[in-house]
Amino acid sequence: MPASHRAGASLNIRDRLIVALDVPTVEEARALAGALGESVGFYKIGYQLAYAGGLDFARELIGAGKKVFLDLKLHDIAHTVEEGVRSVTRIGATFLTIHAYPQTMRAALAGRADGALKLLAVTVLTSYDDADAAAAGYAKPVAALVAERAALARDLGIDGIVCAAWEAERVRGIVGPDRLVVTPGIRLPGAATDDQKRVVTPGAAIRAHVDHIVVGRPITAAADPRAAAITILDEITAALG
Ligand code: C5P
Repeated sequence: MPASHRAGASLNIRDRLIVALDVPTVEEARALAGALGESVGFYKIGYQLAYAGGLDFARELIGAGKKVFLDLKLHDIAHTVEEGVRSVTRIGATFLTIHAYPQTMRAALAGRADGALKLLAVTVLTSYDDADAAAAGYAKPVAALVAERAALARDLGIDGIVCAAWEAERVRGIVGPDRLVVTPGIRLPGAATDDQKRVVTPGAAIRAHVDHIVVGRPITAAADPRAAAITILDEITAALG
């Protein structure tokens, strides 16, 4: 499959990079986005910032022409998920994560209706190994659960999958060319891995047919975040040939 497989074929290069705003306050997030300026067009907001005013900041970013990935990993009874997703659609975000449980995915699709919000399924949290899955009551190993849930997400019509970069190629093989594959765990060659156990470079992720990479600390903790973002965009450009 060429690096320009169908799901990501129409993406512009800047939109392939999603910067994780993993900071505790809106003020810090705003300063970071300001420093990154036009180099970055897509931001991820997760629990930390979302529960500290981050949803209003998401509206602010969207109003300024940026795209936003709300990493809220929803999972609840179907009615609650459906209505929650309906509310999220009004924020104007581009991506929202949900857990890849059948009821949750169906409810999220109903809540999204024909809106522009794209739903990304989290199959199994990458912090789980087989022992964690067993402790949570699953009889199957993590790899089997990931494959099963990715196939289910594909069959239900979920837009994409979030997975670790090192498993992206396998997930791409399951979901095919028409779904998005979005991966964190990205580091520049030779950089510190922080608490990520298995990392890949931006170029390797793109060559593994990933559509979007999610990058946090390599940009947010850099002495010059804008220069770090530009270095990563250059790697993406080179990998796309
Ligand atoms: O700072 P770093 O680049 O490691 O941040 C990666 C981002 O992706 C964080 O927001 C983190 O929560 C998220 N993430 C991850 N690994 C996963 C799933 C999500 O790092 N397996």
